[in-house]
Amino acid sequence: MFRNQRLGKTSQDVLDYLSSLEADKRIFKADLLVDRAHLIMLKENGLVSSKVCSDIFLELEKLEKNGYIIGNEEDVHEVIEKNVIVGAGPDGGRMHTGRSRNDEVATCIRLALRGEMLDLMHEQLSLIRTLVELAEKHTTTIIPGFTHTQHAQPTTLAHHLLAHADAAGRDLARLEDAYLRVNQSPLGAAAFASTGFKIDRQRTCNLLGFEGLVENSMDAVSTRDFILEVLADLSILMVNQSRLAEELVLWSTSEFGYLELDNLYASTSSIMPQKKNPDTAELARGKTGSVLGSLMAVLSICKGLPLSYNRDLQEVTPHLWRSMDWTRSTVRILDGCVSSLKFNLERLEQCAGAGFSTATELADSLVRITGMPFRTAHLIVGRIAASGRRPDLGELDSISLEYAGFRPSEHDFSEANLERALDPRSNVALRANTGGPAPVETERMIRDRLGRIAEGEERLAGRRSRVEKALGELGKER
Ligand code: ARG
Repeated sequence: MFRNQRLGKTSQDVLDYLSSLEADKRIFKADLLVDRAHLIMLKENGLVSSKVCSDIFLELEKLEKNGYIIGNEEDVHEVIEKNVIVGAGPDGGRMHTGRSRNDEVATCIRLALRGEMLDLMHEQLSLIRTLVELAEKHTTTIIPGFTHTQHAQPTTLAHHLLAHADAAGRDLARLEDAYLRVNQSPLGAAAFASTGFKIDRQRTCNLLGFEGLVENSMDAVSTRDFILEVLADLSILMVNQSRLAEELVLWSTSEFGYLELDNLYASTSSIMPQKKNPDTAELARGKTGSVLGSLMAVLSICKGLPLSYNRDLQEVTPHLWRSMDWTRSTVRILDGCVSSLKFNLERLEQCAGAGFSTATELADSLVRITGMPFRTAHLIVGRIAASGRRPDLGELDSISLEYAGFRPSEHDFSEANLERALDPRSNVALRANTGGPAPVETERMIRDRLGRIAEGEERLAGRRSRVEKALGELGKER
């Protein structure tokens, strides 16, 4: 008798409805590891014999090598147990001593998710590096800066790219933080009330390379807040990526003409042969919507659940895996897309001064040189801007006389000052405060960010090696 024996009648429709086998493909390998760790602990605590332990190990290894046969089981845990019992005989059924599928599935999800998070961290670090290294090449590339999607002030391409890199850096930091709470072991909680068998939860925790226990056995099987947290982090990450993608779409239009995507990341139209569409960037925007939807779905699934385990929780996991796939592929694709962009540097520089984007600096210069209040200078330059012409000193003098009661040219404001204020490149050079676009400052930020990337890579390598060491030793246990 296997536990999947239904209460009497079976119907394929009902079985299909209950099944999590499709999503469980993602936790199959994790489940074999969890089984091994649990068995070793049972053996060490005299709860199964060495012989039974090694017989079951053999069956698990066969499953790992050859895959499994599915009958009418509900999930991968049943499939594995059934296969073990078929191979090892009724003693195979001792594997499930002192545990439940409830702690088992939560452990498997955490184990598999941990690995995916480490891979995503690697991909995210690569994207950040791409952005920073591209910035390194463009500290003096002048581009228009926008607010309200209107020309605002000149900046540099480095400054712009570093802004995206910093957002991506925070996304990484959030993932690293969530990792601490994902990498905790619920194993040994059993159904929710722990077990009367004298098990050793800390031992399975160590064998599986978890950093601690989800201690309360009721909490351990009930919670999916670690998934919510990861989905929230993925959602924020995707929103940031989507904004980058949106700029790729916008900047590659003929109206902007700031950049061109490599052909690999673009498609043509089936009807309009002249078209080059930024499809990868558009899909990054689109997949963002799907990830946000997953977060909402899982919040909604969890919000009304009483403790402890409820089968509703099975409905959570597919959202997690799908969102992980969407996010990871988006990060990889945008990384490749960004690193192969071709910028139209002439057009960028030419547009940098468009729309009187140097107006702020003209007002600032009036304040610095003549000492007039900023609001007065703002009014003067506003009048000039309304005329739509490039101002000369005479015009500046006559408008200033009206608003400030004096002529700037009589207060040390020269033709050269006017020239400098209206030059996008000197605008940028002047903005050398912390975080500003001046090349000295972006160069400093680039050095700093490259250092942070190296530190991130080191932390990632440390996490990976702790996991690999534990799982390596688990693999050697007999
Ligand atoms: N397939 C289930 C899930 O994903 C595993 C746990 C089932 N537990 C139970 N009591 N039916 O949540």
